[in-house]
Amino acid sequence: MTLEAEAAPAAKLPFFMRGNYAPVADEATLTALDVVGLIPDGLDGVYLRNGPNPPPGKVPGHWFMGDGMLHGLRLGGGRAHWYRNRWIRTKALAGGKIMRDDFSRDYTVGVSNTHVVPHSRNIYALVESSLPMRVSPELETLGTENFGGVLNFAFTAHPKVCPVTGEMHAFGYGYAPPYLVYHRIGPDGAYLQREEIAVTGPTMIHDFAITRNHVIFMDLPVVFDLEIALKGGMPYAFSDNYPARLGILRRGAPAAETRWVSVKPCYVFHVANASEAADGTITVDVSRYDELWRRGARRNFDASRLWRWRVRPGAASADETALDDLTLEFPRIDERLNGLPHRFTYAPVGVAFDHATEENFTALARYDAQTGARAVRRFGDSTVMSEFVFAPKSAGSAEDDGWLMGFVFDEARGASDFHILDAATLESAARIALPRRVPQGFHGSWCPGF
Ligand SMILES: [Fe+2]
Repeated sequence: MTLEAEAAPAAKLPFFMRGNYAPVADEATLTALDVVGLIPDGLDGVYLRNGPNPPPGKVPGHWFMGDGMLHGLRLGGGRAHWYRNRWIRTKALAGGKIMRDDFSRDYTVGVSNTHVVPHSRNIYALVESSLPMRVSPELETLGTENFGGVLNFAFTAHPKVCPVTGEMHAFGYGYAPPYLVYHRIGPDGAYLQREEIAVTGPTMIHDFAITRNHVIFMDLPVVFDLEIALKGGMPYAFSDNYPARLGILRRGAPAAETRWVSVKPCYVFHVANASEAADGTITVDVSRYDELWRRGARRNFDASRLWRWRVRPGAASADETALDDLTLEFPRIDERLNGLPHRFTYAPVGVAFDHATEENFTALARYDAQTGARAVRRFGDSTVMSEFVFAPKSAGSAEDDGWLMGFVFDEARGASDFHILDAATLESAARIALPRRVPQGFHGSWCPGF
């Protein structure tokens, strides 16, 4: 069936049920893959990517609420061994309710649809409302993770693993107190610290940042909205009254030490990276929206741009700079530099080609923070981008000396390609032409050695 044939009778469906946002209806395991170019020998592991994929007959209230599906590619010895896709066998997929009859949350129930992150020999499928879900490198669901019975709260889809200590820093948020909780996980996967961070209300907090010595929370004015919740949509809306602030806490310190700094009203889903200078100045690079989900607004997403907050020691507010004018989302870096000064950021951008829309990104950009240069790679007139992740050529190779990988949907072919690019040049190393679609999704990870 062509994409057009799928889309035509579905025109009244929301955007996330149409085009390449539409879910796939089945699970596949493909082994004889069509490879153009040479898969680098040094890539030995599995690339995993998560995203919403409601099962046939189910239309969720929002793109963010669909049941999670993993897509995986096993690479090694210069070969692509398999592609497979699997639903994550959550209690939610089986019909379980996230909210109990007394309106309390059951954190063992969630759609696990947002990210997939390796840590301490485990791989976690993550959604910000629920416990992590352990999955195998073959995309099997293994069970919820509560860190030895300690964790009974939400856990972000964007934990940050410190490349120096191996600790995983994370948080969870909720619509009832405590609104924000900091989680610190040891390099061996043991739960080490829980801190309730005092904020002024229930906001949606999708991502956060680490530096070498601090964690940074983004308490931004997209606030829980009961009226929307009762209608079954994403229960958050932009507020003109809620203060936009960053909370900066020394890693391992008690919550009471959190220092709050004002920023201009905005919303941020994603942090590219943060770092701190010798004088204590903290720099945070993000993909920033002027506002998001104002009640009554018709757009799904407004334009987001690469943006920098700089917080000087003792300052009450951040200095703010737009780093580019292209619409951009899903920024990634060489994660060996999480929390450390980085030079290169890679992100899908919405160059205004004819098929670019508020949801469709059409090129991949590479930003050099040192020179200010921006390189842009397109994949063809009928292609739509997803996130690309960085994999170093070797453990000791320099920043940017590696590969970028991700799925690109080719509307003309009605199927997706997995691209491996040289990060420094954005030129193709290899393209794996899958015979089927991989729907637009959220986040993935290269899991070396799994
Ligand atoms: Fe995200």
